[in-house]
Amino acid sequence: MTPLPLRLDRSQPTPLPAQLAGGVRRLVLAGTLRQGDRLPSTRALAAELGVSRAVVEQGYEQLLAEGWLESRRGSGTYVAPDALALHADRRRTSAPGATAPAAPLVRLDTGTPWIDPRHRAGWRRAWREVSTATPPRGYDDPRGLPELRAALADRLARTRGLAVDPDQMVVTAGTTDGLRQLLPELPPGAVAVEDPGYRAAAETVRLHGREVVDLPAARPVTDLGGCAAAYVTPAHQHPLGVVMPAAERLGLLRAARAAGAVVVEDDFDSEFRYDVAPVPALAALDPARVAYLGTAAKTVSPTLRLGWLVAPPALAEAVVRRRTTTHSGAAWPSQRALLTLLRDGWVDKVVRAARRVYAERAPRVAEVMAPYAELAGPLAGMYSTWLLPEADALRVRAAAREAGFELNLLSSYSRSSGLTGLVIGFGGVTDEELDRALAVVGRALAG
Ligand SMILES: Cc1ncc(COP(=O)(O)O)c(C=O)c1O
Repeated sequence: MTPLPLRLDRSQPTPLPAQLAGGVRRLVLAGTLRQGDRLPSTRALAAELGVSRAVVEQGYEQLLAEGWLESRRGSGTYVAPDALALHADRRRTSAPGATAPAAPLVRLDTGTPWIDPRHRAGWRRAWREVSTATPPRGYDDPRGLPELRAALADRLARTRGLAVDPDQMVVTAGTTDGLRQLLPELPPGAVAVEDPGYRAAAETVRLHGREVVDLPAARPVTDLGGCAAAYVTPAHQHPLGVVMPAAERLGLLRAARAAGAVVVEDDFDSEFRYDVAPVPALAALDPARVAYLGTAAKTVSPTLRLGWLVAPPALAEAVVRRRTTTHSGAAWPSQRALLTLLRDGWVDKVVRAARRVYAERAPRVAEVMAPYAELAGPLAGMYSTWLLPEADALRVRAAAREAGFELNLLSSYSRSSGLTGLVIGFGGVTDEELDRALAVVGRALAG
């Protein structure tokens, strides 16, 4: 086998496995390596490049997870037959809604997760199973499919330290839908929403005719007077990324008790910590005070429109009563598919693979941003937030747009906080797109 034209450079800050993965990707894109070509064994390539075998194994594992390579039992590692098609697919789908086919903007948004293309077969299997199952004949349980609620309760206990009675859980059409169901059941009063914070939550509160009170994000909450609820993201403040410390959690619960307010916990992406296990859910500290909102948007797909709400008993009962009279519920086929994806271990596998990809991409973003901007919270999840003067953030965003990339301004998440900078998502793009975007951002920051 002719040696691969790959070169690794120990003086570069990018880890060697990532350099190797990037090099192989470029060889496939350039046509030097063709679909179906066999790659050297990890032992042979490690010897050729003068690195440890673990470096090559990690590089290959990354490419297997991304769908560029496939391994055939007992025969070796090959360029996947649909490697280029997958790459093209992701280029197309990374700019939803774009109409100009020539140069659609590639969005580095915070909401699009990386889904492992290796697991497409499991996804198809789940939907095949839906197609052969018999749907319920009438309006089903208003709380959602009982087996799905049991599987979700099991997962919450395992991953979030939350003991949940499945009968107290309601399957929703996502986080915002969960909030929408809670709002009419709360006593009169404003809703405190973190600032900067989740724009969809603030908008949903306003649409329900309630005042939004700005809750300075990443600062201790001591007073919730006049509020019916406080909407928070304690595991990973959106968008600053800060984890709410234990003492502040207790302080928030104290303030909520004093005001008779409910704490709404949006636990959207806590599973994507790469350094340490996520802290348990806030709801585990006081299930009688906290309404917990989970979503399948980050682990499976935002388009599935599924989530779950675990509310204190009286609130849960009120939500279920209203759902019964209004026939609101999540679509049965989607619930049935999610059940299979959970039971088959598909969700766990996809989460593990995505976590590895984010753990590799986050430092690449940090490498470019850290010399110029301050990281707002720890590196975790599928985006990172960088504090910069607004003029610099606008200049970088303009340069990125010029080159075909869309970046988020931190100011667009701020209501009164005055915080400015850039929020850079790295889940919904390919590695190659991320590299190109970061090159543009780096040049703009330096200029
Ligand atoms: C803070 C936050 N919560 C929740 C979600 C998911 O919302 P939904 O489940 O309604 O898709 C997102 C999506 O981007 C988010 O940023």
